[in-house]
Amino acid sequence: MTAPDSLTDPESLRTRALDALTTARERTALLTSCVEDPELTAQHSPLMSPLVWDLAHIGNQEELWLLREVAGREAMRPEIDGLYDAFEHPRAARPSLPLLPPAEARQYAAEVRGRALDVLESAAFQGTRLTEAGFAFGMIAQHEQQHDETMLITHQLRKGPAALTAPDPAPAPLFTGPAEVLVPEGPFVMGTSTEPWALDNERPAHRRMVPAFFIDTTPVTNAAYQAFIEDGGYGDRRWWTPEGWDHIRAHDIEAPLFWRREGGQWLRRRFGATEVVPPDEPVLHVCWYEADAYARWAGRRLPTEAEWEKAARHDPAADRSTRYPWGDADPTPEHANLGQRHLRPAPAGSYPAGQSPLGVRQLIGDVWEWTSSDLEPYPGFVAFPYREYSEVFFGPEYKVLRGGSFAVDPVACRGTFRNWDYPIRRQIFSGFRTARDAGPGSS
Ligand SMILES: [Fe+2]
Repeated sequence: MTAPDSLTDPESLRTRALDALTTARERTALLTSCVEDPELTAQHSPLMSPLVWDLAHIGNQEELWLLREVAGREAMRPEIDGLYDAFEHPRAARPSLPLLPPAEARQYAAEVRGRALDVLESAAFQGTRLTEAGFAFGMIAQHEQQHDETMLITHQLRKGPAALTAPDPAPAPLFTGPAEVLVPEGPFVMGTSTEPWALDNERPAHRRMVPAFFIDTTPVTNAAYQAFIEDGGYGDRRWWTPEGWDHIRAHDIEAPLFWRREGGQWLRRRFGATEVVPPDEPVLHVCWYEADAYARWAGRRLPTEAEWEKAARHDPAADRSTRYPWGDADPTPEHANLGQRHLRPAPAGSYPAGQSPLGVRQLIGDVWEWTSSDLEPYPGFVAFPYREYSEVFFGPEYKVLRGGSFAVDPVACRGTFRNWDYPIRRQIFSGFRTARDAGPGSS
């Protein structure tokens, strides 16, 4: 992969960092100003932190990395560090902490930001790995955007009327292209060593051999998923792993999270409103077990992480891996549904300008896509800037999700970006697509 000039030239990187930090803060402000203070301090679900915790945690991480680590400043409020250390306090315990009240949390985050922008103005972007190519600024912008996504999940879990609004994605004609795409056998370059703001788990670039496989052209839709439900998929043990079967039995799971059946049709709750489940939209809020069971019912399987990335990044004509399915250019609204521009996925088959060279659509944006893979380090992985970023999560407990959702900002979304979660998670903006072996002779 060749990095465009905008990723190597210091002044372009400074502008990129400023834009990324500003965009993130505008979104944080939106997510925390659309409800009254009591809603910021309340815990809307034991799965989530109070919104006011995320707000001050965003500021605290920014202070830690940009002011203390990069600029060598003293701690502004050392007494609060422990409160906002995600590893010290599980989410369920955070409401009982003596957290900064909303006005103080806002003030603290704003003060940190003011100083961080001063640091950015004169940053040299070289010297250490943290400052090289503005990595620390990119990391902090991504961190804030990731918490913005978490806060959006809290909004989805929150009871009560809608607090957020956004226009719907453009309607799309029913997708009538081929249901699946053949990705021929061969090696490709997975991961990156050149993307300046890529995180440790995306590195280094390495060659992977991938046998030929077919992958769905679009994510699995609500209509397709309903067929699985209507066919008794949730009651048929054959489709489920033993752990998945036990889990759905123990928790009475019979449909995606936020769905309910009424008068012969499926309704769903979405950001405070109830609506009929739209048939042509990618299915959302399913756990890994559900995605895996659906795939087996359909006579298919989930793609491996390497298959997903090859489908998303490998350009067969040039025999190289690109940053995104459409090439190396940063995402625009024509390419993908990203950045909370909409509060839902776009219909399956949308964004033809964002498709891969082989014609796979919506790999980036719309819904996070479960893969069959556990989160594992790439060969040559080095933890950076700290072990807790990725390394402590490696192993069979977590499944990898790829591609980003409508709730992910472009700064935290790349063809190489890896997300992970427990296979039971459903409140996240997760969907999936399926794959199958192509067999010898297909390539
Ligand atoms: Fe965090």
